[in-house]
Amino acid sequence: APANGVVDTGRDFVASLKLSGKKIIIFYGSQTGTAEDYGTRIAKEAKARFGLSSLVCDPEDYDFDNLDAVPEDCLVIFCMATYGEGEPTDNAVQLMEFLKEDPQFSNGGQLENLRYVVFGLGNSTYEYFNAMARNIDERLTQLGAKRVGPRGEGDDDKSMEEDYLAWKDDMFAAVQSELGWEEGAGGDVADFEVTELDAVDEAKLYLGELSARALSGTRGVFDAKNPYAAPLTQAKELFEDGERNCIFAEFDITDSGIRYQTGDHVGVWPVNPDVEVERMLSVLGLQDKRSQAIDVKSLDPALAKVPFPVPTTYETMFRNYLDISAPASRQSVGSFAKYAPSPEAKAMLEKLGSDKAYFHEVAGAKCLRLSEILMLAAGDAPSATPTRWAIPVDRIIGAVHRLQPRYYSISSSPKLHPNAIHVTAVVLKYEPVPGANKVFGVGTNYLLNLKQAANGTPPTAREDGAPVYALEGPRGKYKKADKFAAPIHVRRSNFRLPTSPKVPIVMIGPGTGVAPFRGFIQDRVALARKAREKDGPDALKDWGTIDLFYGCRRSTWDFLYKAEWEEYAKELDGKFRLHVALSREEGKPKVYVQQLLREEGDRIGQALVQQKGYAYICGDAGSMAKAVERELATILGKAKGGSDEDGEKELKLLKDRNRLLLDVWS
Ligand code: FAD
Ligand code: 2AM
Repeated sequence: APANGVVDTGRDFVASLKLSGKKIIIFYGSQTGTAEDYGTRIAKEAKARFGLSSLVCDPEDYDFDNLDAVPEDCLVIFCMATYGEGEPTDNAVQLMEFLKEDPQFSNGGQLENLRYVVFGLGNSTYEYFNAMARNIDERLTQLGAKRVGPRGEGDDDKSMEEDYLAWKDDMFAAVQSELGWEEGAGGDVADFEVTELDAVDEAKLYLGELSARALSGTRGVFDAKNPYAAPLTQAKELFEDGERNCIFAEFDITDSGIRYQTGDHVGVWPVNPDVEVERMLSVLGLQDKRSQAIDVKSLDPALAKVPFPVPTTYETMFRNYLDISAPASRQSVGSFAKYAPSPEAKAMLEKLGSDKAYFHEVAGAKCLRLSEILMLAAGDAPSATPTRWAIPVDRIIGAVHRLQPRYYSISSSPKLHPNAIHVTAVVLKYEPVPGANKVFGVGTNYLLNLKQAANGTPPTAREDGAPVYALEGPRGKYKKADKFAAPIHVRRSNFRLPTSPKVPIVMIGPGTGVAPFRGFIQDRVALARKAREKDGPDALKDWGTIDLFYGCRRSTWDFLYKAEWEEYAKELDGKFRLHVALSREEGKPKVYVQQLLREEGDRIGQALVQQKGYAYICGDAGSMAKAVERELATILGKAKGGSDEDGEKELKLLKDRNRLLLDVWS
């Protein structure tokens, strides 16, 4: 069905445009919602500046054979994310397929009348940077359409936000002159209306529940829209150096109906820590109204959906639903200048909003959050009671993103652990610039608190400043006997083992990149036990080799699952080999996984080329994955009896055939 508020014209978007009298249609190619958010922001800005409403649409809901029927005074905006290895997002597959070959348009013509612009969301650490934005731009131009503003290319590895801000200013200027839009026709408009409720049915009030089913307690499937409160049955520290933390967590999924496969991801839904919730409530003067029930309505459902379930309370909104811990964006900070408590604060916010270098120096480089910036601008010391800002809550809801789940590569195999999901998570703590306050990752420090609670110690403020979280959950539902639960859901991946154990596998995963490979090895262990039961002690003699290249700093600091690998090796009859690269071992030169891969190059090349093996890379999407791919290309080239270039080709082929799979993150 078409998006909220769009006149229903089936799959005909031109008819929707005409019937609604709108002049702009924005299509978002979005996988996790980021491109959709940017699409909505473009729509809001067009409305505020030019008084023009837009349709914001999912391309999956429409056909594109009438692209040649878009009126000349309309603008089509494509906001397109590139996914994985240069692929379209799921919802843009059909659009890209349609444009690829020889599209037949309904009026039989070309696209002379079509006016469009493109903003891409990509990540420059990947080879096919912004491939979707580039492809669609190229194809539309070839088909005769006219791009009426610059093409934007956001880089998630650097600063998506600044790339967007720079692009949209140029884009609006160009489009304005091309299409004759008039500035100032819009004015400042609210997206939401927040109402404080006098009487509420307690049973209908959301206190952190993530779905209507969770609120009503109705049974049903658990998924991303209805995560399962999974008890944390076990949690351990995996690092030994005492400096950094890496958590092993076991979530119990008994009787939940949740199934997973080796290689899947688990989404964990964190909450915000107490300090952030309290600072935000104080800055807005809402401490005493924390339990006030509120309703939120969208004033333009086509442009802005209420991002969380309502009715809820102020405190719940900040603790469970809004991402108030994230570094603030320049545009949102600037938009709050008019609510400043003093002329000085107002001047500072205006400067922060308009001066990119100043914003970076004062806030961006230090990863300051919105509430911290507001305190700074008001002249409050960090530990002082904040000066109150009269920012309407609806504006906060419009400017702050929804709190998102964090994904982890599942570290267990359902063949060994059908009722548990294991996670290996390194706790994020960093000093953005020397001397600045430390920043603590929201999701991993939530896990750290859960780990303490699971081991019987209620979380307390730590020496390093790591924050404290409320863990009981809505109405205490996450506290089950002496265990605490966290909401989780499983996301399918394509990171899969070959079905036959005869096929050799090569796994490369330094650091937490080893997470899914523990699941892979467990899978093979389970298979080996079965095979032996059936065929006796020699059951594994035809099995392919299982090589795991792992790297850590020092054998006594951060060697993950050190004792387990030997156990697995025993059960796998020497088919399994672990190669460990130590990068900071005392008195030893630095070694990385790619070096060990090179040393085993001939054998690995054989396994992958002659024996048609599978290779897997997991972990840091940046320099590690790239360096490992280069090394693999060299190895493959040699195995083919050719050059590095032949190796590159072979690498691509392996990727196309899903025999080289990546599970990487930045
Ligand atoms: P957040 O509060 O979300 O903060 C993270 C953000 O902080 C980053 O996006 C970055 O913008 C910023 N940041 C980080 N370091 C710095 C720095 N030095 N300077 C400035 N800014 C910085 N993680 C694991 O530990 N194990 C896994 O198995 C695992 N698997 C994953 C699988 C997938 C498919 C994906 C997408 C990610 C995976 N991750 C894994 C990463 C994980 O999802 C989280 O991103 C990570 O745990 C941090 O979450 P957080 O909430 O603690 O940090
Ligand atoms: P480091 O001591 O240089 O940080 C897990 O983080 C392991 O991966 C560490 O041993 C780390 O080494 C190593 N590592 C860092 N960058 C890498 C890269 N580009 N390629 C391979 N391993 C890397």
